[in-house]
Amino acid sequence: MKYYLTTPIYYVNAAPHLGTAYCTFTADLIKRFKTMQGFEPVVLTTGSDEHSRNVERAASAGGKTPEEYARVIAEEFQRQWKQLGIQIDHFIRTSDPRHHAVVRDLFLRCQKNGYIEKGSYTGQYCVNDEAYVNDAQPGDNCPDCGRPTETVTEDNYFFKLSLLQDRLLELYEKQPDFVQPDYRRNEIVSFVKSGLRDLSITRTNLKWGIPAPVEGNHVFYVWFDALISYMTAVEGENLWPADLHLIGKDILRFHAVYWPAFLMAADLPLPKKVFAHGWILNDGVKMSKSRGNVVRPGPLADLIGADGLRYFLWREITFGQDGTFSYDALIQRYNADLANGLGNLASRTLSMIQQYRKGEVPASDGFGQVAEASDNMCATVIETFEQLNFSRGLEAIWSFISVLDRFIVERAPWKLNKNADPAAQTMLDETLYTAAEGLRIVTALLYPVMPDAAENIWKQLGFLTRISAVRLPELHWGKLPAGQNVGQPTPVFPRLEAAPLIVKLEELEVIEKARQAVLMGKTPEPEPVAQVGKSITPLSPEIVIDDFVKVDLRVGRVLSAEKVKGADKLLHLKVDIGELEPRTIVAGIAAAYQPETLVGRKVVIVANLAPRKLRGLTSQGMIVAASLEGELPVLAGFLEDVPVGARLK
Ligand code: MSP
Repeated sequence: MKYYLTTPIYYVNAAPHLGTAYCTFTADLIKRFKTMQGFEPVVLTTGSDEHSRNVERAASAGGKTPEEYARVIAEEFQRQWKQLGIQIDHFIRTSDPRHHAVVRDLFLRCQKNGYIEKGSYTGQYCVNDEAYVNDAQPGDNCPDCGRPTETVTEDNYFFKLSLLQDRLLELYEKQPDFVQPDYRRNEIVSFVKSGLRDLSITRTNLKWGIPAPVEGNHVFYVWFDALISYMTAVEGENLWPADLHLIGKDILRFHAVYWPAFLMAADLPLPKKVFAHGWILNDGVKMSKSRGNVVRPGPLADLIGADGLRYFLWREITFGQDGTFSYDALIQRYNADLANGLGNLASRTLSMIQQYRKGEVPASDGFGQVAEASDNMCATVIETFEQLNFSRGLEAIWSFISVLDRFIVERAPWKLNKNADPAAQTMLDETLYTAAEGLRIVTALLYPVMPDAAENIWKQLGFLTRISAVRLPELHWGKLPAGQNVGQPTPVFPRLEAAPLIVKLEELEVIEKARQAVLMGKTPEPEPVAQVGKSITPLSPEIVIDDFVKVDLRVGRVLSAEKVKGADKLLHLKVDIGELEPRTIVAGIAAAYQPETLVGRKVVIVANLAPRKLRGLTSQGMIVAASLEGELPVLAGFLEDVPVGARLK
């Protein structure tokens, strides 16, 4: 049976960020989970929402045509999802001519069925949200985004939404699952009960849109066009209706009211379910480009791995509700649950099998109580994932990991191993089998959540088949074949050092932000160059942060200094950088400094420079100084007190 799911199609006036990645990651999780449940094919659509006045304006501000502008950002979305390992089947762009045809067709169907009417509209419009603001007066701000609204008068085509009020209410009543979570359905039901106004679905004061098949210069309102992209993407594939539209809570009304209404009017099947998730907050507010508080997923994936990020998002935030992202919380969760919890269980289990059973999974049924706990855990995970309650499912997996940990400690296999008694050896077999079988089940269940890490553990468990081929019925206890050879344990989740990692993440974030700004047609602000008298020497070629962090700069204190015999320019220094022995540093600063003036002074040392021999001395590093053409070097130092050994970054 097929399963078709979608994410929203993203506006091209912002580059991808963690907020938009959240929904796309989740769609990827669901796709993998549905595949494990046996659905076939499971198809995931995402895409780019390219029309609208906003895009027209952004493009012309950057000196581009809307087509050029939209293409670059749509490619950036595709590149980003690929880099994050998300399995997209269709990336639909609303500027695709195929889509234009589907939109016109749907409009004509609605028109034929009497749901389209020509009229004139004057009202306040929010350009940012691409929506009329009901009840707003000229001068009012948009209640959603807070920006000023514009007064717009247009001769438009209207969609007769008011005619569908009863049918919509009947839909929510008969199919309580149609809008999820329940509290969101209640919001929608009261909105519809409060009365529906007809919806203006064409615009005349805009060019960058899909021309409507009517007289005059009408293009479709961007939301009329955007929603239909879910159908265009799978045209001719026999996949409609969608089984799930995954969206953010801010666009629920469009999906839970307008979209089913358009389809009802066109006599087309309705999607089965619309699920609205909450927002990723940063510093207490929605992460968004306009608020300038976005975090980009690229640096996180590069330095921590997409899997760690995915786990954090679903474990920490109840899907449906808002949740806060922070580097600190992410690193803490990663270290506690992944490096320590799952990572430890995997390495411990595999190394015990290596040590005590030459790498071969022993024959055993496993320990009954753990087997039962495993079956219960599986049932909970399947049920909660089905409800998209991922945090509950993950909680169940981690409680089971604790059960396994406790079981191993209680059984103390390291003691059993030393006991030659056959009963002890049988118990050791049972213990090892139980640990390995528990690990197998946990790993397979985690595949939709952390596909790469799970595949990695899967291979270490000795499976030759891909983890993506596992189906849920294989997760019954006891399916791990005895005699299977496990691999050598290699760490899947290396521990993270919070402080240096956060510095690096922040640095990469700045670089990523600048890169995206260039894509969006914005010129990055020029770096201010000090204009004190002289011009500086040309800069060296650009490096990336990874190049810079290779250089280990440390604070050192000069313990002694003397001239190097036979070399006018060199001083022989002993410098303490907090190691057991002071470093020998040979520095070309004799013309600038009397040796005795340097003793006790704090300096900067390049501490990981390969040692080199100078005048019979091995210099174990380099002292950092400003060197000016034709002038004496000036040592770098500190105005404030700093501890010896501190790293400069
Ligand atoms: N183009 C429309 C959707 C059309 S669907 C037919 C749109 N685009 S958007 O780019 O502004 O937002 C797309 C999705 O990203 C929305 O579901 C929105 O909720 C989600 N998010 C944007 N920022 C977000 C967070 N900070 N947190 C979670 N989701 C967020 O609306």
